[in-house]
Amino acid sequence: MAQDGDGVGSVKQQLSRLFKVSLNATCPNESDVEPMIEIGKFADYQCNNAMGLWKRVKESSSEFRNPRSLGEAIMRNLPPSAMIESTSVAGPGFINISLANDWLSKYISQMLLFGIDTWAPILPVNRVVVDFSSPNIAKEMHVGHLRSTIIGDTLSRMLEFSNAEILPNQEKKKVEVLRRNHVGDWGTQFGMLIEYLFNEFPNWEDVGEQAIGDLQEFYKASKRKFDEDASFKEKAQRAVVRLQGGEEKYRQAWKQICEISRKEFDQIYQRLGVHLEEKGESFYNPYIPKVLEELAQKGLVEESDGARVIFIEGKSIPLIVVKRDGGYNYASTDLAALWYRLNEEGAQWIIYITDVGQKEHFEMVFSAAVRSGWLPSLHGNAFPKACHVGFGLVLGSDGKRFRTRSSEVVRLAELLDEAKNSSKSELVKKLKENGKLEEWTEDELEQTAEKIGYGAVKYADLKTNRLTNYTFSFEKMLDARGDTAVYLLYAHARICSIIRKSGKDMEELKQTGVIVLDDANERALAIHLIRFAEAVEEACTNLLPSVLCDYLYRLTEMFSKFYEKCTVIGTPEETSRLLLCEATVVVMRKCFYLLGIKPVYKI
Ligand code: ARG
Repeated sequence: MAQDGDGVGSVKQQLSRLFKVSLNATCPNESDVEPMIEIGKFADYQCNNAMGLWKRVKESSSEFRNPRSLGEAIMRNLPPSAMIESTSVAGPGFINISLANDWLSKYISQMLLFGIDTWAPILPVNRVVVDFSSPNIAKEMHVGHLRSTIIGDTLSRMLEFSNAEILPNQEKKKVEVLRRNHVGDWGTQFGMLIEYLFNEFPNWEDVGEQAIGDLQEFYKASKRKFDEDASFKEKAQRAVVRLQGGEEKYRQAWKQICEISRKEFDQIYQRLGVHLEEKGESFYNPYIPKVLEELAQKGLVEESDGARVIFIEGKSIPLIVVKRDGGYNYASTDLAALWYRLNEEGAQWIIYITDVGQKEHFEMVFSAAVRSGWLPSLHGNAFPKACHVGFGLVLGSDGKRFRTRSSEVVRLAELLDEAKNSSKSELVKKLKENGKLEEWTEDELEQTAEKIGYGAVKYADLKTNRLTNYTFSFEKMLDARGDTAVYLLYAHARICSIIRKSGKDMEELKQTGVIVLDDANERALAIHLIRFAEAVEEACTNLLPSVLCDYLYRLTEMFSKFYEKCTVIGTPEETSRLLLCEATVVVMRKCFYLLGIKPVYKI
């Protein structure tokens, strides 16, 4: 076998390497041309380079008459490869590529033997910061933070699964992801909270946590006093200064308040199976003066109305980095954090996940970073790069901001309870209908309901184009017939039961069985399976988890079609088809994992 099939990266990336060799051989003077490989309209894949390349070489080359003849040359110069069955040139020079069935079959068998990790895509980065979730201490963690948590976790999982681009002789390694919880733990609200604590509970050091009780109520009460009582307000403002100046008593009180919030947040993270590392706003505070000094030296910082600001081209309002009272703000913290992530942590890609309302803020911060030379450009592909991943609002069925009946804001713990309870009653209903309820223990019911309920919340969020607002509806997300986690999890359980019913030892089949792709439905399923890495790659590159949801949904549909047309058990093709079933559940489970959903094996 020749130069392909090193099996590194997605199939598209493997084809790209083959075409890179051919492009270099065809037009040696155009060595910077990147192969353009896409899913084919009329074949498995296609290469679209001929037309663009023609424009570059037509003046200088006498060898080619038109883009089509250039396409034919690219095709001829393709190194021999076991991957490719045939190629042909269509229209003005598209190269159609058909993959070889033997290669497909081996590629899937290898994955079954050596694990889905062999199908990880390659990404052109080593270290990434994902800044997500990031609720504010003492304020409620709302559905916006839930969206950020779910999207951020998925992107982190996909990046962690990917391999980092390496030099030829280096050892393979994974992309390193720093999952950062940029909690709001340093705002002016702390003056008010601390002063209120001192005021109401003189012995706060002993009773602190019990005394505060519900932190959100505590916040509201202190805010009321702040608004009504002028002398309290003044004390609160002084408290901020004393806290930020590092006075011990104030720092102790601050720590205690943060700790209470943290415990609450952690409960949610634990339920969602999300892991984060907290580096809150306070962490970056000591870096702000130095960073602003650097920006000032580069001539970026100007006086305006008593504040210190950075003007950004194309924006009518400047970015305020030091307020008129001399204090720092959200923007100064984000500048320091960006500096830290680039310089101290060596991140090449920094991804921020918040609602679209903060788009402007991040554009300004990133523009300042470009002006200061920290980043090469605002929108280019060059690294290091910073990206804001915005998402829309969560709406209720009334089309307004999502709230629950009982409170003005949605308590996330209640929301998760409700998801689980609704999914449990659906599950029980279904099992009763099928006369299967007796086969289930209470424990199994609970665990399955939780997986389906939480999975449904996550999937409903991830599958929508994140930029649009999305309407939260338990009824829709728990519908077993739609594009929902329930549908996907049930499908997975059903395929598992086909495999179980066959009574075959799958480990043995993986070693000895051969996958045959004679039927068009078998082949279509195989082709979709091997595109898994591409889906992950695209979802990461464009920061769109919905790409992976689409892929998974289509895989499930593709499987249904296959299963409808191709009988598995008791046919001469049984072994091969069982292996296709197994490959399908392996890929499905990896998709679930990457989406933060736990699989269900029995239904
Ligand atoms: N705490 C902010 C909020 O609740 C989100 C922080 C996002 N990250 C950042 N580096 N600014 O809206």
